[in-house]
Amino acid sequence: MDREKVAILGGKGMLGSDVARECALCGMDAKQFDLPEFDITNESHVREAIEWAGAVVNCAAYTNVDKAESEAELAYRVNAGAVGMLGRIAKAAEKWVLHVSTDFVFDGLKDGAYSEEDEARPLNVYGASKLAGEKMLAESGCANAIMRVEWTYGEHGNNFVKKLVKLAEGRDELKVVSDQVGGPSWTREVAKAICEFAAKRPEGLYHFANGGYVSRYEMAKFVFEKLGIGVRVKACGSDEFVSAAKRPLNSMFDCSKISGVLDGPIRGWGESLEEFLREL
Ligand SMILES: NC(=O)c1ccc[n+]([C@@H]2O[C@H](COP(=O)([O-])OP(=O)(O)OC[C@H]3O[C@@H](n4cnc5c(N)ncnc54)[C@H](OP(=O)(O)O)[C@@H]3O)[C@@H](O)[C@H]2O)c1
Repeated sequence: MDREKVAILGGKGMLGSDVARECALCGMDAKQFDLPEFDITNESHVREAIEWAGAVVNCAAYTNVDKAESEAELAYRVNAGAVGMLGRIAKAAEKWVLHVSTDFVFDGLKDGAYSEEDEARPLNVYGASKLAGEKMLAESGCANAIMRVEWTYGEHGNNFVKKLVKLAEGRDELKVVSDQVGGPSWTREVAKAICEFAAKRPEGLYHFANGGYVSRYEMAKFVFEKLGIGVRVKACGSDEFVSAAKRPLNSMFDCSKISGVLDGPIRGWGESLEEFLREL
C-alpha cells in the first residue's frame, strides 16, 4: 500500500520540523514545504503542494508577534489571505487540511480555561490575523481541522525556554512575569497529536496543550531548577515589560474536546518539559 503523503507547509519551522519527524516515524511520506522555495502566498506553490499531498498540515505563519503591529499587511497576507486560498484550492482538490492556530485569538480576560465555544477577541494584530485565517479556512468549505496551540517550545527555532536559558547567562537575578498563565506545550507532543489527526482526519476546531497550567514565573523556576542554573527568579507584572503588542494574561485551554479524539492521555506540562530539558 502507498504511504500517506503529508505536505507540511512551514515544515522547517519550530513546530513543522517536529511534525515532519513524527509523521515519518508513523510511516507517513512527510514532505516539508517552506521559504525560500515555497511561499504560502504564492498560488502556484500552494497548488503544487496540494496536488502532491494526500493531506495538508499548515504550520506556515507570520509569527513575530511584536513586529506584526507594524507589518500588519504582511501578517494578514500570510496568516489570513494565504490560508483562505489554501482552503479554496484544497476544496477543489478534495484534500483535508489541518491548520494550526493560537491562544492569541483570545483576550485572556476569561475567569477559567478557554473552550472552543468561547468567543475570540484578539488583543493584537498577530492574533487578529490568525483569527481571520481560521474564518477564511472555514468559509472555503474544504474538509478541515483547526488546532489551536499555545506556549509552544521545541528543539528548533526560538522560544521561551531557550530565551530563559540565554537570559540567565551571567546574571544573578531574572525578572519573569507571574500574571501570564497557560499550558506550556512541547512541539513534539503537538506533532504527535497532529500526526494522529492526519491519520484520522477529524474536522472542526480543537484546543491542544500539555496538561495543567502554570505562570511564566513558575515555569522559569522549574526550568532553572531542572537545569541546575542558580539564577534567582523574581516575579513581576506584565506592565513592567514594554512591548509593541499586548498579550493575553490567561491562555489556559480546556482540552476535553481533543482528548475525545486522541488515543492516549495528554501528558502533563511538567513531565514533558522535564524530558525536553534532559534532551536540550
Ligand atoms: N510559538 C508559539 O508559542 C505558538 C503559540 C501558538 C500558536 N503557534 C502557531 O504554531 C504554528 C507554527 O509556528 P512555530 O511556532 O513553528 O513558528 P515558526 O518557527 O516561526 O514557524 C513558522 C514557519 O512558517 C514559515 N513561513 C513564514 N512565512 C511563510 C511564507 N510566506 N510561506 C511559507 N512559509 C512561511 C517560517 O519561515 P521563516 O522562519 O523563514 O520565516 C517558519 O518556517 C503557527 O501557526 C503559529 O501561529 C505558535
